[in-house]
Amino acid sequence: MKYKEASGSVLKVEGPVSIRILEGEFSILGRRVVPKDTIVVPKGKSLPIEIVKDASFEVKAGVEAKISKVQNAIPPDWRISIDKILNEHGPLKVVVVGDVDSGKTTFTVYLANAAFNRGFKTAIIDADPGQAEISVPTTIGFGILKEAVITLDKVPLRNAFFVGSTSPADVPLRVMVGVNKLLNQALQEGVQIIILNTSGWVFGKGARELGASLINMVSPNFLVLIQRGLEVEHLARPWQGFKGMSVIRVSTSPAIKLRSKEERKDKRELAYKNLLTKSKIRKFDLSSVSLMYTLFNTGVPIPRSTLDELEKQIGAKLVYGEEKEDFIFIVLEKPSLNVAELAKKLKETTGKEAIVVTKGMEKGIIVGLLNQSGGLAGLGVINEIDYESRSIKVLTPIEEEVSVIQVGQLKLDDEGHETIKYPSPPL
Ligand SMILES: Nc1ncnc2c1ncn2[C@@H]1O[C@H](COP(=O)(O)OP(=O)(O)OP(=O)(O)O)[C@@H](O)[C@H]1O
Ligand SMILES: [Mg+2]
Repeated sequence: MKYKEASGSVLKVEGPVSIRILEGEFSILGRRVVPKDTIVVPKGKSLPIEIVKDASFEVKAGVEAKISKVQNAIPPDWRISIDKILNEHGPLKVVVVGDVDSGKTTFTVYLANAAFNRGFKTAIIDADPGQAEISVPTTIGFGILKEAVITLDKVPLRNAFFVGSTSPADVPLRVMVGVNKLLNQALQEGVQIIILNTSGWVFGKGARELGASLINMVSPNFLVLIQRGLEVEHLARPWQGFKGMSVIRVSTSPAIKLRSKEERKDKRELAYKNLLTKSKIRKFDLSSVSLMYTLFNTGVPIPRSTLDELEKQIGAKLVYGEEKEDFIFIVLEKPSLNVAELAKKLKETTGKEAIVVTKGMEKGIIVGLLNQSGGLAGLGVINEIDYESRSIKVLTPIEEEVSVIQVGQLKLDDEGHETIKYPSPPL
């Protein structure tokens, strides 16, 4: 369908939509769009189009697509705060915090484009492992803009850090380490502004702890609160009057599109599916490749005679066992309904942390593969662990040499659907 719009009007476009501009000029979050450019608004996302010069354009819209005229999609305080931020001298660090669906990611793109358009070498760290766009879910991504973008997934990826979960609540230390590493890398690469986009996990003790720690570590020049009312003021409270850090408050856009849990999950699953279709099985010997974030493979194997004794006590066949001063790890041959009960009993009798798993339960657990220099080569999922021969098979698109396998806390099925989320390391 063909549309015509006069300069000064603003459209809110909900995807899936593809728009080809024939005449005139748009601005989308500060990205100029001119004739022959085609922009794609993905399903589940909405974007504001500001008509800069009288424009005609062709629209291909999917079933769920909507295009409506709005008064103003970009709140005036966004422009004011961006001017304030970009008038400072770099390297600038900006942390963006807000509740779920407040517009953090959109504000991040808007600020990044404005910085890029003014000639700043502009970096983004996407510290939301659930809604990762620069990289894939379960990771924190870091990218440097090569051009203004309309969505974060168009920012070229420079590096990523695997946290192994889509919930920062389950892996807050890894989020801290990832942000720290990527921030240092960005500074070393001489960027003039780094914008840290965060997750919407802002309520509760854990969220406060992570929020305060992240802000403390990054020590940003600007802390941006994006909020409807005063809902994230608590994150700024410790830093009020702090020299060297300005707290900036901006409003959420009236054009926000709320997303359901299902829509968020669908988007993540698309990324996993993409990963899995390009993957092949690789076998790693656990004597040369190490595991991280597991108890398994960090202790001493329990002798067969002791396992036989244990088998009699618990009445189930054991494939493998391992222990150290602080833990005991047992692998059952067959599924048992009372795995939790068994772990509890073992904990009581040994006084150690006990993990009881069934052979085969490891299939589908997401992993990060580190290369020889300790950087993330890419992701994969466990296919099988052979406890006797101490080897692990991983389905992955990565062909590089691997030195460490970081075991995550999320399980996927063959189609890339999320099946189990573990609150703590499963192996
Ligand atoms: N100014 C705006 N104009 C039009 N659409 C917008 C605007 N701001 C946000 N949106 C849309 O609203 C939705 C939510 O915004 P966004 O993803 O930026 O929020 P978020 O706070 O990052 O959410 P999450 O908590 O999921 O990370 C997105 O589809 C986004 O494109
Ligand atoms: Mg976001």
